Amino acid sequence: LETWNETYFDGRLSSAVLAHLTQLEHPEQRPEVRAFLERAFRHMQRARFPPSDFTAELAGQFAHIAAMVQEAWEGVIPPFTLDGRHRKIDDYIECHAWFQANPSGTLVDIGCGFPPVTTVETATRFPRWQVIGSDPALPYYLVQDEHGNYALFDEGGSLQYFQGGNGRALDVWQDPESARVYFNTLLQRLLRASPSRGSEAMGSAGTGPWLVQNPAWQYERPNLSFKKGAIGALDMQDIHIIRCFNVLFYFDRPFRARALDWFASILYEGGLAICGVNGFRSTRCRYTVYRRVGKRLVEEEFAFSLDNVRPLGSISWSTFHDDDEETRRLATLVGVLRADKPFQHDFDTRLDALLSRHSLFARNDKGYLVELPSELSPEKREKCQFEIGEQLDKEGYVERAAAVLKQAGYKARRNDTGHVAVRS
Ligand SMILES: C[S@@+](CC[C@H](N)C(=O)[O-])C[C@H]1O[C@@H](n2cnc3c(N)ncnc32)[C@H](O)[C@@H]1O
Repeated sequence: LETWNETYFDGRLSSAVLAHLTQLEHPEQRPEVRAFLERAFRHMQRARFPPSDFTAELAGQFAHIAAMVQEAWEGVIPPFTLDGRHRKIDDYIECHAWFQANPSGTLVDIGCGFPPVTTVETATRFPRWQVIGSDPALPYYLVQDEHGNYALFDEGGSLQYFQGGNGRALDVWQDPESARVYFNTLLQRLLRASPSRGSEAMGSAGTGPWLVQNPAWQYERPNLSFKKGAIGALDMQDIHIIRCFNVLFYFDRPFRARALDWFASILYEGGLAICGVNGFRSTRCRYTVYRRVGKRLVEEEFAFSLDNVRPLGSISWSTFHDDDEETRRLATLVGVLRADKPFQHDFDTRLDALLSRHSLFARNDKGYLVELPSELSPEKREKCQFEIGEQLDKEGYVERAAAVLKQAGYKARRNDTGHVAVRS
């Protein structure tokens, strides 16, 4: 930890952050966790992330993800998703010339996760489009208890994933072994009674425990269907738009190259593929937009939300492979922005003022950013952060970031959804 502090943060991490990260330094620590953290720190250094902005909250987020990577994850990619996560990507799609030229078409959400709330939102927003949600891990059984904790199982009754209800999303991972035993026992108990089929909605806390078979069915509607299957193994053709978020960053670059080739093979000529990573409501967002031209995918632009210039969350720098192209690009571009002293000064000063006005964070006497005590739920805090991003865009900071990148030789712009975009 000391070496990391010296190497990546000039030895300036706060004692609160070091205390959080020390918890991760035990002898049985798996190499994947260390590699994950060091990769994130390398990206932060490339992005010129200030050590004084590495908050204890951010360290806590890294610790949570590391716990998932180490203890429970075991190669399974979590189907976790969030309401409203891709709203800005849907804005982007709506403004795009290809969408405007095609009053109806087919959009596939690859790796849609479960419950597929973002796919449902897209189908609701674009009623004249056929939307298909696809995922290799669409569950066969859903088990939910009276507290809203739930688990997903495959046909053979093997546990695929479990999650805590009502804002306790990550806590249940703290003792994954007990959680596994708990949900397996619950499944066996509920299987003795007959399961309801996917026509029933997932219940709210207080109404369980219950078991649903093929739970994706409950989300189907005239313009929304689901297909179980992985990239490269789904039978589809003539797709107008592919959205693939929070999926490819789990894989290495050769996989990504094969995925893009497959996207090209199932798209209409001229069709769009948009893939990347999103946090809450398209904060901490980074993505690449491709177009099928002459049977190949050609990059249109790489874009990111401005909050990545000094993100409060860990997902901006979280990657699972050293060769993750989008995160490297993000870190490089943010590094260019932060190297521009007038921009960095004005952006940081304004962001500090907004964080303080929303009672989220303030500077202590040593200049370190610290979380303010607050009654706000994690969800409300995220919402404030989203609003701060919108405010900074209104005040012209996205345009200004694009101008800084242009000055540095990039073909940059503020795209229609208010993100900083560069073209190759
Ligand atoms: C973190 S979730 C993303 C959910 C949603 N797209 C979002 O952005 O919130 C990642 C999903 O990728 C799916 N996945 C894993 N391997 C995949 C593959 N080879 N092809 C397609 N999806 C895959 C997982 O089953 C999981 O549901």
